[in-house]
Amino acid sequence: MKIAILGGTGRIGEGLACRWASRHEIYIGSRDVDKAKDAACGYSCQLTDRGIECLIDGASNKEAVERADVAVLSVPYEAALGLIECLRPVLKNQIVISLVVPMKKNKWFEYTPPDEGCAALHIQHLIPEVKVISAYHNLSYRKLCNLDLDIEGDVVICGDDTDAKQVVMNLTREIRSVRPLDGGPLSESRMIESLTPFLINMAIRNGLSDLGVKFV
Ligand SMILES: NC(=O)c1ccc[n+]([C@@H]2O[C@H](COP(=O)([O-])OP(=O)(O)OC[C@H]3O[C@@H](n4cnc5c(N)ncnc54)[C@H](OP(=O)(O)O)[C@@H]3O)[C@@H](O)[C@H]2O)c1
Repeated sequence: MKIAILGGTGRIGEGLACRWASRHEIYIGSRDVDKAKDAACGYSCQLTDRGIECLIDGASNKEAVERADVAVLSVPYEAALGLIECLRPVLKNQIVISLVVPMKKNKWFEYTPPDEGCAALHIQHLIPEVKVISAYHNLSYRKLCNLDLDIEGDVVICGDDTDAKQVVMNLTREIRSVRPLDGGPLSESRMIESLTPFLINMAIRNGLSDLGVKFV
């Protein structure tokens, strides 16, 4: 499968790219092609040093989407809305994965959903021509980027298209020790998006770090 990671130069983008690169062609997207190529080269080196063959390339966000079957929107919420506007001409029938969490920090982190109810629904309204699937909001980038680590957590996946959701469930299974769970329709994304600031606040309050979720 060809996977574009938009904003793949960032923290969670690196983790997803490195976890998937042994089985898929990865296109790291950025606003700056040189930055994307540097990041792609760095991720490739990390994997090659571990004896893992991979195909990771860097490109503009637009070019990355053009080449991909699946595009991961891995940028801050405020950036996602502008990015979608520029990508509109090349978004056709890709699956778009949103892991975007709209939140702000006052004394504590606070979920700040848009009028649509959650970021995933907002994004789906902006690009009705693609299938938006919501996932990975509660995964810590530090855990994801540590390739020696078994994350041992659950990823709740929400979406309205059964086939597209299945594709993301399968991709999630490829991340060692992570269990994908069907969280229902895209509107339920509100629940998993809102958990992220709660987890960060809990970590701060209890002197913990990189909390995730596991349903038992
Ligand atoms: N960090 C986590 O552990 C974590 C976990 C779950 C979900 N998330 C969600 O995942 C998303 C990405 O998080 P992150 O921590 O990886 O973010 P990040 O490292 O701060 O940013 C990711 C990338 O977004 C791009 N970007 C920044 N501002 C932009 C703008 N105005 N327009 C277009 N692109 C812009 C940058 O890429 P270029 O400069 O190369 O264009 C940057 O490398 C967020 O929505 C976050 O809520 C994060």
